[in-house]
Parts: sequence; structure tokens; C-alpha cells
Amino acid sequence: MKYHHPKGKAVNLGRRSLAGLALVLSIPWSACTAANSSESMLLEKFQSGNYSKKGADSCLMCHKKSDSVMAVFAGVHGNTERSDSPMAGLQCEACHGPQGKHRGKNEPMITFGTSGNVSAELQDSVCLSCHQDDGRAHWSDSVHTDEEVACVSCHQVHVASDPVVNRSNEVAVCTSCHTEQKLAMNKRSAHPLSDGLGAGEMVCSDCHTPHGSLTDASLTQLTETDTCYQCHADKRGPVLWEHEPVTESCSTCHNPHGSVNDAMLTQRAPMLCQSCHASDGHASRAYGDNALGLGENAFTSGQSCLNCHSQIHGSNHPAGSALQR
Ligand code: HEC
Ligand code: HEC
Ligand code: HEC
Ligand code: HEC
Ligand code: HEC
Ligand code: HEC
Ligand code: HEC
Ligand code: HEC
Ligand code: HEC
Ligand code: HEC
Repeated sequence: MKYHHPKGKAVNLGRRSLAGLALVLSIPWSACTAANSSESMLLEKFQSGNYSKKGADSCLMCHKKSDSVMAVFAGVHGNTERSDSPMAGLQCEACHGPQGKHRGKNEPMITFGTSGNVSAELQDSVCLSCHQDDGRAHWSDSVHTDEEVACVSCHQVHVASDPVVNRSNEVAVCTSCHTEQKLAMNKRSAHPLSDGLGAGEMVCSDCHTPHGSLTDASLTQLTETDTCYQCHADKRGPVLWEHEPVTESCSTCHNPHGSVNDAMLTQRAPMLCQSCHASDGHASRAYGDNALGLGENAFTSGQSCLNCHSQIHGSNHPAGSALQR
């Protein structure tokens, strides 16, 4: 099987490739004083645009023995039938840049990943030349971008199918960096996150958009509560008697990633309640009684405050103003 460059002539760039070039060039290299020498040389290569005449065939002459290189043809980016695929355009050079004089060590090609020879921002500009769409609208101001987490920190392209876009593998990719959330999701009370072995059906991207969003913590919905209502619609108001913190932020009382306490509570009652209600009349009794050694009562035993205030998310009962029914 041959992967001939469909255009025949390398200078004949498709519109997408030109967009890609423009994006790469729009990065202010001059402002980047610490740019290493291979970065500047790769920029020059891009500007002179010496694409090979035979596209992938000229690369495969030397690279076809590598299974990992050839695997690109098994995935979406190796599809020669789609007009918007790299293989229908500049082929390998759509991502690795123009060949120029590259024959091995003599002249570099763009490489990706943490040991890549260009910055995360430049690596990303290659991907964004085709993927700058609604899905990436908030990428440039996302925390991942600030932290130099690149597209290829999560995505792989030289594979038949990219693990991270598969719901059974996503969580493992995220928790390879997010160890705190990994610890939390293994606690006694947690959301049923997929472990890749068939257990659990939720993934991080049910609540977060990995490409950034308008909200703190890159949530999928405009507010945190809306993110939770997607699945917990019964907690959505309006109710007759609201409990103020519930309408504001579920995570004031719940750790969405997991907790040692029942119902993923950040603390147990009465401490949880007293973090806000310690000075409210009888609400301070739970500590007082214990301190005096008076033993268990409705305030300290069982569900503590919830023994009476069971409608903690709000009440629809006409007489439920104290969230007790
Ligand atoms: C004449 C042989 C030859 C040709 C033609 C060739 N390469 Fe290479 N390429 C090599 C060799 C050898 C290396 C390894 C250099 C090294 O170890 O530093 C290499 C390295 C690379 C690397 C870096 C790999 C890494 O892990 O650092 C990339 C990417 C690459 N080539 C892409 C291409 C592309 C794309 C083409 C076609 C446009 C191409 N090469 C054409 C021989 C070739
Ligand atoms: C859609 C962008 C894209 C296309 C198209 C692409 N690559 Fe890559 N290439 C990458 C990325 C990203 C990596 C880093 C490893 C990874 O993510 O799989 C990489 C890694 C490599 C490497 C070094 C690692 C290895 O597996 O040896 C070589 C060599 C290479 N590519 C050559 C090629 C050749 C030859 C082609 C064309 C047949 C090609 N690439 C097409 C993006 C691309
Ligand atoms: C020349 C254009 C082009 C470039 C450059 C490109 N892609 Fe793509 N990519 C595509 C096309 C076309 C698809 C298929 C889109 C679809 O199915 O809707 C695709 C699909 C994807 C998907 C979805 C994969 C799946 O299995 O569903 C991911 C993830 C992706 N690309 C990441 C990347 C990353 C990361 C880079 C940079 C290393 C990159 N792309 C560079 C054209 C490109
Ligand atoms: C933190 C990990 C992570 C990073 C970084 C990341 N992605 Fe993704 N990407 C995902 C996950 C998870 C999915 C599947 C779930 C989803 O679509 O939200 C995905 C889906 C995609 C898809 C297919 C669905 C869609 O939105 O079109 C494309 C294309 C894509 N990513 C491109 C990119 C590009 C380009 C970059 C860099 C600018 C990038 N991604 C950075 C994790 C990541
Ligand atoms: C049920 C929804 C939900 C799921 C599933 C979820 N998160 Fe979160 N995450 C949130 C909310 C809400 C916040 C913001 C409030 C907070 O920090 O508790 C957050 C915050 C974060 C933060 C920022 C924490 C900080 O201290 O600034 C990171 C990082 C994070 N999540 C990673 C992950 C990862 C990785 C996964 C998958 C293992 C995941 N989340 C799954 C809802 C979720
Ligand atoms: C290569 C490492 C890496 C991977 C993989 C990774 N992240 Fe992150 N992520 C970071 C770093 C670094 C930060 C910033 C520090 C922090 O908040 O932990 C961050 C921050 C976040 C935040 C907080 C964002 C905000 O706006 O406050 C969320 C949410 C998040 N990541 C979700 C994810 C999800 C979901 C995945 C998997 C699809 C993922 N991350 C994969 C490194 C990574
Ligand atoms: C994608 C769907 C989904 C989203 C979004 C979601 N949850 Fe859940 N939640 C679940 C599932 C599934 C369970 C487990 C139900 C069960 O075990 O019966 C659950 C259980 C819970 C529990 C009870 C745990 C227990 O041990 O009893 C709490 C508390 C909770 N979620 C809070 C939240 C909060 C807060 C948010 C928003 C940050 C949220 N959820 C977003 C699906 C979701
Ligand atoms: C003021 C603290 C507080 C806030 C804020 C809060 N919850 Fe809860 N939540 C609790 C307590 C306490 C329990 C345990 C109730 C019990 O054991 O009867 C609970 C239990 C739950 C449960 C499991 C039992 C059930 O009722 O289904 C879910 C799901 C839940 N909360 C979702 C949410 C969502 C979604 C939000 C935001 C809209 C939220 N909570 C806001 C205190 C809170
Ligand atoms: C993050 C702070 C916070 C936490 C935690 C909290 N509350 Fe509240 N609670 C409030 C606020 C604010 C109000 C509204 C007070 C007002 O209107 O004067 C309120 C109102 C109430 C009311 C009275 C309803 C009313 O409007 O008068 C009861 C009863 C109540 N909370 C019980 C609890 C219990 C039980 C817990 C523990 C499970 C708890 N609260 C946890 C902040 C909190
Ligand atoms: C034995 C049942 C019971 C227990 C246990 C209980 N409460 Fe109450 N609480 C009530 C009743 C009944 C009211 C309504 C009082 C009224 O209308 O005057 C009330 C009212 C409140 C109010 C409304 C404001 C106020 O002071 O009138 C708050 C806040 C409150 N309780 C918090 C708590 C907290 C926090 C705990 C746990 C430390 C707790 N309660 C334990 C029965 C209880």
C-alpha cells in the first residue's frame, strides 16, 4: 500500500494546512528569548515550507519498520478517505512539519510530548490547526494550558484508537496526574467512576471539560449546581423552603470526588452543620452536651442534627421552614 501525496506538489498547500501554518507563525517567537535552537530552526523550516514531493512515502522509506509509526494508519489521522484528514493533505508533515533536509539526525522534525523539541504551545498549535472549533473554544485560557499540559499529554495519535476518548480508559489517564482525586475516588463513599476493568460507569468528563470552560474547575455546565443537577435532578429547586448553601454550591458539604464520610460529606454532622450554625441557639448544644459529659442525645446520636432536620436539601412541606419535614 502506498500513501502517495495526493496533491503531487508539495507547495500546493490545502486551506487547512495554511491555517495551521498561520497559527504556528502567529506565536511571538521573538518574545520568547529562551527559545532553544531547534525551535528557531523548526520555525525557519516552517517558513521556507519545503514539503516533500511524495508525502508519507518519503518518510516511510526510512520509518516504515517502526510499528508505532505505522500505527497512525490504523487510526482516524491515517484515514486517506476523509478530505479533512492529515493523510488527505500534507500527510505526516501536517503534524511533524515540512521535511526540508531531514534524513535523520542531520535536521530535526517537530516532535511531541514532554521530551518534544518545541514548547507545549507550539505542539498544540499543530493540533489546533485542524481542531480549533467549539470543543476547544476555552483551551487557550484553561488551567491545563497554563500548566503546559499539551494535547498529547492526554491524546495519542499513533494508535488505532486513542485511549482517552474511550470512557473505560479516561479516568486512568486523568488520575495518572491527578493523584489527589484518585485517592478520593477510592474512599468509602464516592461516585462510581470507571476503573477501566468494568466497574463504575462515570468519568471525570461527566463533570469537567478537559479542554477548559467558563467556570472554575472547568465544569461542564455554567454553574456547579447545574453540573450536579444533570444527574441529581431531584435536588433542583425551587422548593418552598430553601437551604441557602444547597442552592449555592453542593461542594460546601460534599466532596464530589469522594470522602471517608457517608454521602461524600466533607464532614459529619454535627460538625458539618456547626461550621455555619455554631452560634444559632440550640445548634450549639451538640458540642456543649458532650463537653459536659451528658452522654448521647438527639443532637449527637444517629443522624445528629439530621434526626430532626432531615430535609437538608430544602423542604416543600408548608410547615417545613426548619427543614424538619
Ligand atoms: C533517510 C531516512 C529518513 C527519512 C527520509 C525520514 N526520516 Fe525521520 N528520522 C530518520 C532517522 C534515522 C531518525 C532518528 C534520528 C535520531 O535518532 O535522532 C529520524 C527521526 C524522526 C523523528 C523524531 C523521532 C524521535 O523520536 O525523536 C520524526 C518525528 C521523524 N523522523 C519524522 C519523519 C517524517 C515525517 C519524515 C518524512 C517527511 C521523515 N522523518 C523522513 C530517518 C529518516
Ligand atoms: C495527527 C498528527 C500526526 C501525524 C499525521 C503523524 N504523526 Fe508522527 N507523531 C505525532 C505525535 C503526537 C507523536 C508523539 C507520540 C504519539 O502521540 O503517538 C508522533 C511521534 C512520531 C515519531 C516518534 C515516535 C515513534 O513512534 O517512533 C515518529 C518517527 C513519527 N511520529 C513519524 C511519523 C510519520 C512517518 C508519519 C506519517 C506516516 C507521522 N508521524 C504522522 C503526530 C503525528
Ligand atoms: C490535518 C488535520 C488534523 C491535524 C493536524 C490533527 N488532527 Fe486530529 N483529527 C482530524 C480529523 C479529520 C479527525 C476525525 C474527526 C472526526 O471524526 O470528526 C481527527 C480526530 C481527532 C480526535 C478524535 C479521535 C477519535 O478517536 O475520535 C482527537 C482526540 C484528535 N484528532 C487529536 C489530535 C491531536 C492531539 C493532534 C495534534 C497532535 C491532531 N489531532 C492533529 C484532523 C487533524
Ligand atoms: C486533560 C486531557 C486532555 C487534553 C490536555 C486535551 N484533551 Fe482532547 N479530549 C480529552 C477527553 C477526555 C476527550 C473525550 C471526552 C470529551 O470529549 O470531553 C477528548 C476529546 C477530544 C476530541 C474529540 C471530541 C471533540 O471534542 O471534538 C478532540 C478532537 C480533541 N479532544 C482534541 C484535543 C486537542 C486539539 C487538544 C489540545 C488543544 C486536546 N484535545 C487536549 C482529553 C484531553
Ligand atoms: C460528580 C462530578 C465530578 C466528577 C465525576 C469529577 N469531578 Fe473534579 N471537581 C468537581 C467539582 C464540583 C469541583 C470543584 C469543587 C471542588 O474542588 O470540590 C472539582 C474540582 C476538581 C479539581 C480542582 C481541585 C482544586 O483543588 O482546585 C480537579 C483537579 C479535579 N476536579 C479533577 C478531577 C478528576 C481527575 C476527575 C476524575 C478522576 C474528577 N475531577 C471527577 C466535580 C467532579
Ligand atoms: C499530564 C498531567 C495531567 C493530565 C494527564 C491531566 N491533568 Fe488536569 N491538571 C493538571 C495540572 C498540572 C493542573 C493544575 C494543578 C491542579 O489543579 O492540580 C490540572 C488541573 C485540572 C483541573 C482544575 C482546572 C481548573 O480550572 O481549576 C481539572 C478539573 C482537571 N485538571 C481535570 C482533568 C481531567 C478531567 C483529566 C483527564 C481527562 C486531566 N485533568 C488530565 C495536569 C494533568
Ligand atoms: C453523570 C451523572 C452524575 C453527576 C453529573 C453527578 N452525580 Fe452524584 N451520583 C451519581 C451516581 C450514579 C451516584 C450513585 C448512586 C447510587 O449509588 O445509587 C451518585 C451519588 C451521589 C451522592 C450520594 C453518595 C452516597 O454515598 O450516597 C452524592 C452526595 C452525590 N452524588 C453528589 C453529587 C454532586 C455534589 C454532584 C455535582 C458536583 C454530582 N453528584 C454529580 C451520578 C452523578
Ligand atoms: C448543607 C449541606 C449540604 C449541601 C449544600 C448539599 N447537601 Fe447533599 N447531603 C447533605 C447531607 C447531610 C446528606 C446526607 C443525608 C442523609 O443521610 O439523609 C446529603 C445527601 C445527598 C445525597 C444522597 C442522598 C439523597 O438525598 O439522595 C445526594 C445525591 C446529594 N446529597 C446531592 C446534593 C446535591 C446535588 C447538592 C447541590 C445541589 C447537595 N447535595 C448539597 C448535605 C448537603
Ligand atoms: C455553608 C454553611 C452552612 C452549612 C454547612 C449548613 N447550613 Fe444550614 N443554613 C445556612 C444558611 C446561610 C441558612 C439560612 C439562614 C437564615 O436564613 O438565617 C441556613 C438555614 C438552616 C436552617 C433553618 C432554615 C431557615 O431558613 O431558618 C436549618 C434548620 C439548617 N440550616 C440546618 C442545617 C443543618 C442540619 C446542617 C448540617 C447538615 C446545616 N444547616 C449546614 C448555612 C449552612
Ligand atoms: C430534637 C430535634 C432537633 C435536633 C436534634 C436539632 N434541631 Fe435544629 N431545630 C429543631 C426545631 C424543632 C427547630 C425549629 C425551632 C423553632 O421553630 O423555634 C429547629 C431550628 C433550627 C434552626 C433554625 C434557626 C433557629 O435557631 O431557630 C437551625 C439553624 C437549626 N435548628 C440547626 C440545628 C443544628 C445545626 C443541629 C445539630 C447540631 C440541630 N438543629 C439539631 C429541632 C432539632
